[in-house]
Amino acid sequence: MNITLASFLYLAAAVAFIIGLKRLQSPVTARRGNQLAGLGMLIAIIVTLLISDIISPWIVVAGLVVGGAVGGFLARTVEMTAMPQLVAAFNGFGGGASALVAAAEFLKSDALPLRTDITIVLSTVIGAVTLSGSFVAYAKLQGLVSGQPVGYPGQKIGDPVLAAIIVGLSVWVVAGGSASVLWLLVLAALILGVIRVLPIGGADMPVVISFLNAFSGLAASMAGFVIDSNALIISGALVGASGLILTNIMVKAMNRSLGNVLFGAFGAAAMEGGPGAIGEKPVRSATADDVAVTLAYAGSVIVVPGYGLAVAQAQHNLKELTNLLEERGVDVRYAIHPVAGRMPGHMNVLLAEADVEYEKLYDLDQIQDQFPRTDVALIVGANDVVNPGARDDETSPIYGMPILDVDKATTAIVIKRSLSPGFAGIDNPLFYLDNTMMYFADAKRAMTDLVTAVKEA
Ligand code: TAP
Repeated sequence: MNITLASFLYLAAAVAFIIGLKRLQSPVTARRGNQLAGLGMLIAIIVTLLISDIISPWIVVAGLVVGGAVGGFLARTVEMTAMPQLVAAFNGFGGGASALVAAAEFLKSDALPLRTDITIVLSTVIGAVTLSGSFVAYAKLQGLVSGQPVGYPGQKIGDPVLAAIIVGLSVWVVAGGSASVLWLLVLAALILGVIRVLPIGGADMPVVISFLNAFSGLAASMAGFVIDSNALIISGALVGASGLILTNIMVKAMNRSLGNVLFGAFGAAAMEGGPGAIGEKPVRSATADDVAVTLAYAGSVIVVPGYGLAVAQAQHNLKELTNLLEERGVDVRYAIHPVAGRMPGHMNVLLAEADVEYEKLYDLDQIQDQFPRTDVALIVGANDVVNPGARDDETSPIYGMPILDVDKATTAIVIKRSLSPGFAGIDNPLFYLDNTMMYFADAKRAMTDLVTAVKEA
């Protein structure tokens, strides 16, 4: 294949990535967007196969088949709630691959231009930090290591000293250091990834994963400069930029700063605080029949889905319930908090699975002022995202995090199994308000019972 045609096809692949990414903006076009980006990747791989003769194309095809099979299997079998861990593992492999590409280029050539040496060092360091940091994040979320922040003695000095060592080794490599110096650099970067992520609390892990996602993109982009691959530069830059944008959206929705997530200890504070006096105050406990009557005779209902809905996989039963309510003339809408669940867009994906119409989903900004005019806020497996303490209580660890004002509806119905706290590990004053009904049940069981009860109401 001639090089002009190859460059053109790489450009076509990059355009497919960009359009694919753009289409991920809406659930209506997301599936097509994903397919288009996949097609772009396939084009990039085939072109690479045809223009390079470093190893037999069959070895690459074998890699494609094995990698594709493992990826396809994971995508089909992984639970939605375990998606953050899977993304963490993908980021780790991405970072590791970029570090290996850059290191291989260093090992195979004797004298490289300064520009290439610098990008090799950057790609190796960022890739290695991403690799080890992502697998620590994976282990935390998977429960393989404690989700609690884990520090080490002398951490305040250790981190900057390690960073200084990395800078020193990087300069040495660029100034003509041998392969052993490069491996020392890789080792130091791997250690940095571990000791930077271990002290971060489990509650902050999704933000860290998104940030490491940006890092993996950056490492890939640098590797693209090393091997002069426009497709890799562009796709890496896209991953880097989108990862950073997502990180920003998440920290904003939690009213935090990135520095506070990476170097603060919110996860620690919330977890150390524990549930406290949870369960000691009286609540208004309701039965399926009480809830069914309230819903069936309401004029308007706003459903607030949360992590518990995903755990219970009750989205189809929820849809069945809301269908019944709509048949009775109730106006039903859904309020989606940006960090409801455990990953960005978690609730959108869940409700899309149950064929909930997109136009019935409202973002926080779009629906916030509707709660005072709504008869019932139906909260299914959500907790932190409807905690009025975040709005009213300056001493709350989540004070300042935007929440959905469900307590302003005429009645708030909360469906969860107990008074246990959510991800932030703190009590929720909503449960004890006079206009709140607590319906203690597994979300799926509750939805099934409510469907029966509404039919009889
Ligand atoms: P959470 O505050 O985590 O609360 C979920 C609630 O679901 C729990 O209190 C639990 O109570 C209930 N639950 C669990 N299993 C259930 C089941 N089978 N049936 C019924 N209820 C069940 O969820 P949320 O309101 O969606 O908030 C998300 C949290 O995750 C926020 O703190 C957010 O900052 C954090 N977070 C989210 C993201 C993203 S991007 N989404 C990223 C980082 C952090 P019971 O045990 O009593 O049932």
